[in-house]
Amino acid sequence: MAAVVELAGVSIVRGGKHLLRDVDWRIDEGERWVVIGPNGAGKTTLLQILAAQVHPTSGLAALLGELLGAVDVFELRPRIGVSSAALADRIPRGESVGDVVVSAAYATVGRWREAYDPVDYLRAAALMRQFGVEHLGRRTFGTLSEGERKRVQLARALMTDPELLLLDEPGAGLDLAGRERLVTALGDLCSDEEAPTTVLVTHHIEEIPAGITHALMLADGMVTAAGPIHETLTDEALTRTFGLDLALEFTAGRWAARARR
Ligand SMILES: Nc1ncnc2c1ncn2[C@@H]1O[C@H](COP(=O)(O)OP(=O)(O)O)[C@@H](O)[C@H]1O
Ligand SMILES: [Mg+2]
Repeated sequence: MAAVVELAGVSIVRGGKHLLRDVDWRIDEGERWVVIGPNGAGKTTLLQILAAQVHPTSGLAALLGELLGAVDVFELRPRIGVSSAALADRIPRGESVGDVVVSAAYATVGRWREAYDPVDYLRAAALMRQFGVEHLGRRTFGTLSEGERKRVQLARALMTDPELLLLDEPGAGLDLAGRERLVTALGDLCSDEEAPTTVLVTHHIEEIPAGITHALMLADGMVTAAGPIHETLTDEALTRTFGLDLALEFTAGRWAARARR
């Protein structure tokens, strides 16, 4: 079976600096990965490759069986769902929440404000229900709380029924209740066999939802550990990745970490 993602020796260099160095990574269908690493480690840059938004400076990247550089990225991108702060910033604050979700299928292929099919509205409504934002359809995006916005973005990212779902720090900026609602929703998603292959980026161990199967740890643009999460996410790997003596706990399906003293 072809890999969903296959990176071989991938480096990204900008202004003489390596943002990523020699990354090898294979993601198979149905896997749910978390990418963990400190600020500036290169997590967002790595996700941009997986989103077909950035090409490696050197090395090979294959997405959904297509080699980056040899495929029309405009055909590839609708097959990949993305939620990131950069994309959220581009959503007009005055747009209705219902339109934010339903327009995703059209926005990714460069169409805008066309008449949507009834089936699109049904799918948008089902996704909004799944993430607990169905009552917000008529509100404008700008009036939502940060937590509501994150859940609307998730619904939008899934609207095209993508084969690969990429979530860059979906819990950033949320308060405790907002984070817990989001992590619960993500846990349900990651535990659903029908859900797409997923990659979630975070630097907070507490935000790893249930259902995550694999972890890739990144520091200074280099992979420090990668593999099945329970073999990979260890005190030793976390300590090496963050440069601080850290101890992990895994209780009731959730992770936590604190400095060892
Ligand atoms: N276009 C660019 N030119 C130079 N440096 C960049 C560029 N984009 C990002 N960086 C730097 O690359 C590093 C990795 O960035 P990023 O992938 O956003 O990290 P993370 O998401 O893990 O915080 C950071 O130090 C950032 O400042
Ligand atoms: Mg980032």
